[in-house]
Amino acid sequence: MNAVSAASSKPSTPSATAAPKSAGLEGIIAGQTAVGAVTQGQLLYRGYEIHDLAQNATFEEVAHVLLVGHKPSAAELGAFKAEIVAERALPELVIDTLRKTARLPNTVPMDTLRSAVSLLAHLDPDCQDVSPAANLRKSKRLLAKIATIIGHMQNVIDGRDLVKPDPSLDHAANLLWMMTGKKPTSEQARVLDVSLILYAEHDFNASTFTARTIAGTLSDLHGAVTGAIAALKGPLHGGANEMAMEMLKEIMKDVGEAGIGTAKVDQWMDKAFAEKRKLMGFGHRVYKNGDHRAPILHKLGRGIAEKDTGNPGGHPALAWFRLGEQVQKIMLDKKQIHPNVDFPCGLTYFTMGIPVPQYTPIFVASRITGWAAHVMEQHANNRLIRPIAEYVGRPQTKW
Ligand code: CMC
Repeated sequence: MNAVSAASSKPSTPSATAAPKSAGLEGIIAGQTAVGAVTQGQLLYRGYEIHDLAQNATFEEVAHVLLVGHKPSAAELGAFKAEIVAERALPELVIDTLRKTARLPNTVPMDTLRSAVSLLAHLDPDCQDVSPAANLRKSKRLLAKIATIIGHMQNVIDGRDLVKPDPSLDHAANLLWMMTGKKPTSEQARVLDVSLILYAEHDFNASTFTARTIAGTLSDLHGAVTGAIAALKGPLHGGANEMAMEMLKEIMKDVGEAGIGTAKVDQWMDKAFAEKRKLMGFGHRVYKNGDHRAPILHKLGRGIAEKDTGNPGGHPALAWFRLGEQVQKIMLDKKQIHPNVDFPCGLTYFTMGIPVPQYTPIFVASRITGWAAHVMEQHANNRLIRPIAEYVGRPQTKW
């Protein structure tokens, strides 16, 4: 006899202490955190507001705030950056595996990254240790190595020699360097750096909650991050930055550059609404009046596009922004739905010539800091995460 049939001959009703029902746990406070705060009015990382960070901090400073817990002094920042740089190289087994897997059919970069992070666990001397000190050491290693995985993976996809990390470059600039083999301009490096700041932390989003659920069984950091990568991949979460750009490409193909600013875009959108399509890069479970991060990145990405003479996807970078802005206006006018950070991210990374399938891996290169901070917080004050379900299946039936 199984547990359900043993309990009652009727479908069990939730106990009096059950949490209120809510599809997708919408609006449910599922725990406490001191890492970040997401509200309609503000986004805070350990008390620091996101506009302030985007304006005044670097990604490495934000990573220190999240992982170590406080704003670093100049000496602490120097030591932290040196540790990250020293951890950038990948073990030979991981490089070998990247060479063998990155170009497999039916493989996308998020899969390759997920497998590589999982493989790193086998080679990490602290893998099974969930103490605070070991978790911090592993967090720094993952922060450093995930960027190198992305860079080397792109080199394999492009069929070029691996571009070694450059110790003189910071996290964002080095990531662009390793992916492309070209030194980024200071503006490109700063815009990527800000995008990493914006992506670093977002309280109990799906991937972070996944990481905390895994950590809550006292499983290890690499396992939690591997699960979080799988959760982030989906188009309703981090995968939306790639899908947003794919959608804009689809609109551009249908309306043409000459169609931007005309009723053709309205017609495309009306058809999408009639088909009840989810438009990627729009909407948010928490933010109903707009995502605090989106305008910050839009402004910076547009700034690059205004100077850019390149033709990403065969059209001037600015044309893509003009199309994106028209789509945003139609969404707001007709559906009252705002863009989330993934919409300007898609446009910005496209303008910078980054291959679309690497947009979500780059999100990982940043969010590893938020995930690791949450895993450490979970381990430091753990209680198994185990909600209950309301059974709505068949009543007890004789076998
Ligand atoms: N396109 C069209 N309609 C939408 C969209 C959208 N992107 N987002 C919400 N709606 C509509 C939805 O159809 C529903 O309408 P109705 O009440 O008539 O059925 C209403 O708005 C409420 O939407 P919901 O799906 O119940 O809201 P949710 O809180 O469950 O969904 C969301 C949040 C992010 C999953 C959803 O907005 C969505 O699917 N957006 C597209 C994917 C996306 O951009 N994800 C990135 C999320 S933020 C950053 C990140 O995690 O990376």
